[in-house]
Amino acid sequence: MNIYCRDLSIPLMHPLKDPSILNQTGSEPEIWFASIDDVNSEFANWLDSQGLVMTYPPLLFYTPAGGQCGIHIDGFGVTDRACMNFIVRGIGSIMHWYNLKPTVEISQQDATQADTPYTLYQPNQVEHVHSQVVKWPSIVQTGVPHNITNHTTEPRWCISCDVSFKTSPEAGLTWIQAMETFKQWM
Ligand SMILES: [Fe+2]
Repeated sequence: MNIYCRDLSIPLMHPLKDPSILNQTGSEPEIWFASIDDVNSEFANWLDSQGLVMTYPPLLFYTPAGGQCGIHIDGFGVTDRACMNFIVRGIGSIMHWYNLKPTVEISQQDATQADTPYTLYQPNQVEHVHSQVVKWPSIVQTGVPHNITNHTTEPRWCISCDVSFKTSPEAGLTWIQAMETFKQWM
């Protein structure tokens, strides 16, 4: 089993109350936060039944057909953070993960359009380690360099839910914690 992406089979539900908010048509990738009011209460209740809570509202990523994003980490440098990602359309788009070459310093600190921290890397600073299609949902490691290629004819949206234990609602989950928490759904 790889340590970058694991598919889950959870009770079928949409994390968003109104999926039609995923309606972008532009030619550039977009990132924005949903409102906490956009979260489907059925999904929030299911998380609660698992002892979990959303760390912050879902982050929504739009990748146009034929588009891709740069190699990045969601945060300041390499860490260990497991998120629950749901993919809408762009069937066959692929997420790729990379190891940082040992000598590489953090090169480009940035912020996303959603004003979340973002560290961007150049292809020559990383070594590819894994690629996989993300499903509905999959647990993905977002603390190491990764990117998306959407070489399909459909736009792609990712609903990224960062979840935490109710007892530490701002901490997020490490990969090991996520594997333990969701083991009955794998
Ligand atoms: Fe990311």
